Amino acid sequence: MNPSKKILITGGAGFIGSHVVRLFVNKYPNYHIYNLDALTYAGNLENLSDIQDYPNYTFLKGNICDVLFLSKLFDTAEFDGVIHLAAESHVDRSIANPGAFIETNILGTVNLLNAARNQWKNNLEGKRFYHISTDEVYGSLGNEGYFTETTAYDPRSPYSASKAGSDHLVRAYHHTFNLPVVITNCSNNYGPNQFPEKLIPLIINNIKTNKALPVYGQGLNVRDWLYVEDHAAAIDTVFHNGTVGQTYNIGGNNEWKNIDLVKKMCSIMDVKLGRQIGESEKLISYVTDRAGHDLRYAIDSSKIQNELGWRPSLDFEQGLEKTIDWYLANESWMQKILSGEYERYYDQMYRNR
Ligand code: NAD
Ligand code: DAU
Repeated sequence: MNPSKKILITGGAGFIGSHVVRLFVNKYPNYHIYNLDALTYAGNLENLSDIQDYPNYTFLKGNICDVLFLSKLFDTAEFDGVIHLAAESHVDRSIANPGAFIETNILGTVNLLNAARNQWKNNLEGKRFYHISTDEVYGSLGNEGYFTETTAYDPRSPYSASKAGSDHLVRAYHHTFNLPVVITNCSNNYGPNQFPEKLIPLIINNIKTNKALPVYGQGLNVRDWLYVEDHAAAIDTVFHNGTVGQTYNIGGNNEWKNIDLVKKMCSIMDVKLGRQIGESEKLISYVTDRAGHDLRYAIDSSKIQNELGWRPSLDFEQGLEKTIDWYLANESWMQKILSGEYERYYDQMYRNR
């Protein structure tokens, strides 16, 4: 059967990408989904083991920084759409090694834009280049207010600066070359398959293994949390119904101070692990703050809600329980990750805290 659309998803072996790939492969059996991923420390094909043999799915190991690889790939397959998630995604790593973020997030994105532009130059009909971005490009909020699509960019970490750079380039390719692009800027995701360098899976694992729970600074920074499958559903909506050239903000309308979130996780896990209430909280350890730590992110997602009808489906209590249950039930997933390269990084970052 000829597929009705061929979609290239980059970064599909990572956290959010794996949920997007699974959603598209299951929901659109008449599409063919190509998952292009370099399998860096953050890429894990185990995240997709349930769909790896589906006839409408192909995994392609490759690096978006490799121009020759991309040009050969785009020569052999006529893609109708690109959903671009591949990135270096962790703020702390961007402070330790900014160069990798410039290479993948900026140069890699330009390579992909060039490959798509080159392939689509004679026929833009029905084509779409979708860049998945972050709310961090807008900088940091005080105690009041929300990021909207017109908030001025003010990135403050090497990670967010690299994502802002790639957003600007995607828009520039639309204005200069007519490339049919859409961009979404999303708040903090949580859920299954998230690499345990990020706050929620790190805290779950440390509570479970009785390790210190590192809270940066005083734990007063605020993040707006969204369940990853709700983000994947938003990506499906924007890919199919978003207007070319537009940006949409995606958020959970669900703000938590880090310390309140960590305490909430402690209390849920005390019950699940049969501990005395209050026991896990004793593991909390206030550590040196992240350099340049943004105080608060909060998204106004009324545009995508009003124009495209998307909204978060899962309430945070349910999402957090579901997430904790998944990590507790998938201990071997965590163990494999912790026994490899991540362990060395983890030691380096946290041994003395
Ligand atoms: P992740 O780190 O879990 O996954 C990134 C994936 O990209 C990995 O599979 C990795 O192997 C792959 N990759 C990295 N460099 C590559 C390269 N040069 N070539 C090909 N593949 C490469 O990241 P995530 O948290 O799933 O984030 C995915 C995207 O969503 C990123 O663009 C990120 O900026 C954006 N985003 C993330 C969040 C969040 O809360 N995690 C929120 C908003 C936006
Ligand atoms: O807002 C969207 C962004 O959310 C995405 O673009 C990024 O890819 C994603 O990593 C995430 O960035 P954050 O820096 O907000 O996520 P992280 O999980 O690293 O940290 C969440 C908050 O918790 C942040 O205020 C820092 C704090 N923190 C984090 C870690 C890892 C701690 O207090 N202790 C920790 O050990």
